[in-house]
Amino acid sequence: NKGNYEHYMQKEIHEQPESLRTTMRGRLIRGGSSKAKTVLLGGLKDHIKSIRRSRRIVFIGCGTSYNAALAARPILEELSGVPVTMEIASDLLDRQGPIYREDTAVFVSQSGETADSLLALEYALENGALCVGITNTVGSAIARNTHCGVHINAGCEIGVASTKAYTSQIVVMAMLALAIGDDTISSRTRRDAIIDGLFDLPNKVREVLKLDQEMKDLAKLLIAEQSLLVFGRGYNYATALEGALKVKEVALMHSEGILAGEMKHGPLALVDENLPIIVIATRDTCFSKQQSVIQQLHARKGRLIVMCSKGYAASVCSGGSCRVIEVPQVEDCLQPVVNIVPLQLLAYHLTVLRGYNVDQPRNLAKSVTTL
Ligand code: UD1
Ligand code: F6R
Repeated sequence: NKGNYEHYMQKEIHEQPESLRTTMRGRLIRGGSSKAKTVLLGGLKDHIKSIRRSRRIVFIGCGTSYNAALAARPILEELSGVPVTMEIASDLLDRQGPIYREDTAVFVSQSGETADSLLALEYALENGALCVGITNTVGSAIARNTHCGVHINAGCEIGVASTKAYTSQIVVMAMLALAIGDDTISSRTRRDAIIDGLFDLPNKVREVLKLDQEMKDLAKLLIAEQSLLVFGRGYNYATALEGALKVKEVALMHSEGILAGEMKHGPLALVDENLPIIVIATRDTCFSKQQSVIQQLHARKGRLIVMCSKGYAASVCSGGSCRVIEVPQVEDCLQPVVNIVPLQLLAYHLTVLRGYNVDQPRNLAKSVTTL
């Protein structure tokens, strides 16, 4: 049921304030007499200690689910103190890459039925790793075959392009980081800020959804383009990859997410006055580096669209020389949840304006159950 919306993708983008709330329901605890703020993931409670003791956490997934894990990687590294590595399921299998008994392998999958991820799960089980699932589908193969896990509870996702599952996956993995991390005095302030940030995240997502018309206007400008680059780094490297994936899969426009730190190692050669480039430059520890990336793109007459924190337009783009998308600022590790929303909206509007099928893009299936 699409309700008042024309397409499922549109509905699922706009329902993110609610889906995020459901994802967190009963799992974030604040207040009480001790005023303690804690995270409770029922599905992991008997396994948290083993995860904390593991030698490595390996995230495994495909497509958008892989990108969600990539977005959560920095906060997991920071809070857990355990090394975190990333594997695209098919690539892990192609290489028969190393998975050890001392590893925790975390399988991220909206459907819980993706063939590559399932085969990688079999492989990790054979190798003796502790296997954890993060899925949206109760009773799915990943939920059944992992040792333990967390349901993201985002609600049924029908549009082939994953949107609300992506943001809920990131939130679950941020909660996972809080659950694994030691609750020490020194980490208290940071943890409290993240928990407060999680509580307020649905409101911030509601706020960023107000950019809908602005993104439609931007889509009108980009409608006939051949290609679109998206630059990001740090917490928002994943945002660049995921934004580009949305644009290519539904709007059928070539789009590439680029790690801004790699700009000078090749991509800079593409920059001219015609190719549109989105640069994600919201406030975090990478901000000054992104400012210098913007300057260098400017010097090559790049056609820039800069995503920045509210109130920072002048610091990213002097003299109105580029278009800006201003988004509300949240705790750095949660910023990817806010930043992806305008790009989801852009992909959606580009697709409708270009006249393509938004909910069922050509050649794609919602759940990829074949190899
Ligand atoms: C569970 C109930 C929820 C109830 C809540 C009350 C289910 C599906 N969930 O939620 O309805 O409101 O208790 O406390 O009945 N699991 C895996 N692999 C996965 C995902 C999950 O093994 O990929 C396992 C978990 O380890 C857990 C079970 O499935 O044993 C349910 O997981 P989850 O729904 O996340 O647990 P709760 O949030 O506690
Ligand atoms: C992109 C998309 C795909 C899936 C991928 C993994 O919007 O939907 O890239 O993310 O096929 O699917 P799941 O998460 O079901 O394992």
